[in-house]
Amino acid sequence: MTAEQPAGSGAEIENLMAEGRSFPPDPGFAARANATKELYAEAAADPEAFWAKLARERITWQEPFHTTLEWDLPFAKWFLGGKLNITENCIDRHVAAGLGDKVAYHWIGEPGDTRTITYADLLREVQKTANALKELGVGTGDRVAIYMPMIPELPIAMLACARIGAPHTVVFGGFSAESLVDRINDAQAKLVITADGGWRRGKPVDLKSAVDEALTRTPSVEHTLVVRRVGDAQPGTAMTAGRDLWWHEIVDRQAADCPAIPLDSEHMLYLLYTSGTTAKPKGIIHTTAGYLLGTSLTHSWVFDVKPDDVYWCAADIGWVTGHSYIVYGPLANATTGLLYEGAPDTPSWERWWQIIEDYKVTILYTAPTAIRAFMKQGEALPRKHDLSSLRLLGSVGEPINPEAWLWYHENIGGGSAPIVDTWWQTETGSILITPLPGVTTTKPGSATFPFPGIEADVVDANGASVPLGSGGYLVLKRPWPSMLRGIYGDPERYRATYWGRFPGMYFAGDGAKRDSEGYLWLLGRVDDVMNVSGHRISTIEVESALVDHPSVAEAAVVGKEDPLTGQAIFAFVTTKAGIETGDALAAQLRDHVAKVIGGIAKPKYLIFTPDLPKTRSGKIMRRLLRDVAEGRPLGDTTTLADAGVVETIRAGAGGADDE
Ligand code: PRX
Repeated sequence: MTAEQPAGSGAEIENLMAEGRSFPPDPGFAARANATKELYAEAAADPEAFWAKLARERITWQEPFHTTLEWDLPFAKWFLGGKLNITENCIDRHVAAGLGDKVAYHWIGEPGDTRTITYADLLREVQKTANALKELGVGTGDRVAIYMPMIPELPIAMLACARIGAPHTVVFGGFSAESLVDRINDAQAKLVITADGGWRRGKPVDLKSAVDEALTRTPSVEHTLVVRRVGDAQPGTAMTAGRDLWWHEIVDRQAADCPAIPLDSEHMLYLLYTSGTTAKPKGIIHTTAGYLLGTSLTHSWVFDVKPDDVYWCAADIGWVTGHSYIVYGPLANATTGLLYEGAPDTPSWERWWQIIEDYKVTILYTAPTAIRAFMKQGEALPRKHDLSSLRLLGSVGEPINPEAWLWYHENIGGGSAPIVDTWWQTETGSILITPLPGVTTTKPGSATFPFPGIEADVVDANGASVPLGSGGYLVLKRPWPSMLRGIYGDPERYRATYWGRFPGMYFAGDGAKRDSEGYLWLLGRVDDVMNVSGHRISTIEVESALVDHPSVAEAAVVGKEDPLTGQAIFAFVTTKAGIETGDALAAQLRDHVAKVIGGIAKPKYLIFTPDLPKTRSGKIMRRLLRDVAEGRPLGDTTTLADAGVVETIRAGAGGADDE
């Protein structure tokens, strides 16, 4: 973890904070809101009692818990002694309450095919799939990797795993075979659930051949279960006899009855891999009861979800946003959700607005990158559609610039729908910093205040709280129910990464400022993690992918501000002696990164340089490379071993190869 100053210039944030525009809650909305302002005081008075009460109220327990929290810093256990099954909470109890015919998901395939899945359908399909898992030898505690497009079988597969207590690890379908290998091997997964492919921008995207490639190096995997999604549109899906099984052949013939196993509150629900400051992604551990409480509670209070809402979180389930706010939170609240398989620009940039109009979507949750992409297409497109059903909008994944916030408010929210800018992380499991609609006066660009029961602070380099109006590092000072329980297989790394920088505090890796009224303004990552389109990518992961290419001697990667994607990847590459550099090699290297990690990690800019700026002890000075990437005046160069090198790089960067 570097001890550099938080990213984002002070002047810029002063300007944002000086804008002074604020949006008080609409009294009509406030009168019916799920959240109230009293919750803050109640939670602050006794956080443990607050969580315990909600856990009793909101969760259906098979056995009640006897202890709310065991906190052996940094290891937390919540709701000890309790037994539950998250799928009973997400499905069975709703069907038992008479909601079997309520729609759980309206699914829309990119080509235009649709499916409607009720809670009764979900219960049946999850039980059949759970029985199929058992037949394939998957038992409680076994890990299952899931690598799928956005089709209904994806949440069904996750829930089937959860029903029998087999932790899942979902790998985003855009990741490469190599990334899949690392995750499968780290998790020691026994089964891979996948599909022949999915639809993206009018074309089938092959997933099965990436699985085949990965499976040459994953000895723990015994079987794959393959959904036929694209079928004849992509002929030639290879099935290895004895290992690969078609979903429809195995799942369809199962009995539709598979009891929900009672599991401990702390039973591992899933692993989700995320980039940290090293080349090796971390398997973030989430467990059952605390995660269920965190996701269902925030889903209810932050999105103000009511029984008749049509809720659309437009993330991919492969990221934590999809786990928490497409699958577990909304289903726990018996919500009707929308699942869309494809790209926002297919067949045109009106696709989302058409969907909202057709399904009368009331709540939309998306990322600033998507909002900026829509802004670029102009307001005429949303205006062609009736978006009047929308009553609340959410934002997540990266700081939202006030311009995008205001555009979203005016053009999508009709100037009246409240916007919730929600800050959280894979590690936090659920939303931690956010307005409560109907309660909080919002300011465009600020995620406002910690959720009730969450104690966040902004501290200086020594861990001391900074005064109002100042910036520093965002920390969390108390455990919370949906927090990560560790990094899979590496408790020391967990302690060092999150709890080592400031003793007794969770360090999120983000910089933040707090204005004179205590509003929090997130400033982005302060470590070697980039945020591209709301996705975390480690600079070091991209560097190792580049260095893995036979032509490359050394590489350094930094994030450069980007008007669309928040940050863009900028790579500085030194080749081995005698290698000819040029556009062809640059293209080859970009493709190589995509092959090693996935398309999202492809550098947007790539320049060849004869050397990299290093300190006398050989450490690459990324700070200077960031200055070069941003075209800023260079910072202090006195510790450089060779002061001339940045000037040479800078001269070369003028012609940075922009993809
Ligand atoms: O830098 C913060 C940024 O996204 C990081 C977490 O990334 P990930 O674990 O992939 O989860 C993304 C979805 C929850 C954070 O450390 N981030 C997330 N939400 C916001 C944000 N930055 C500013 N404002 C937000 N609302």
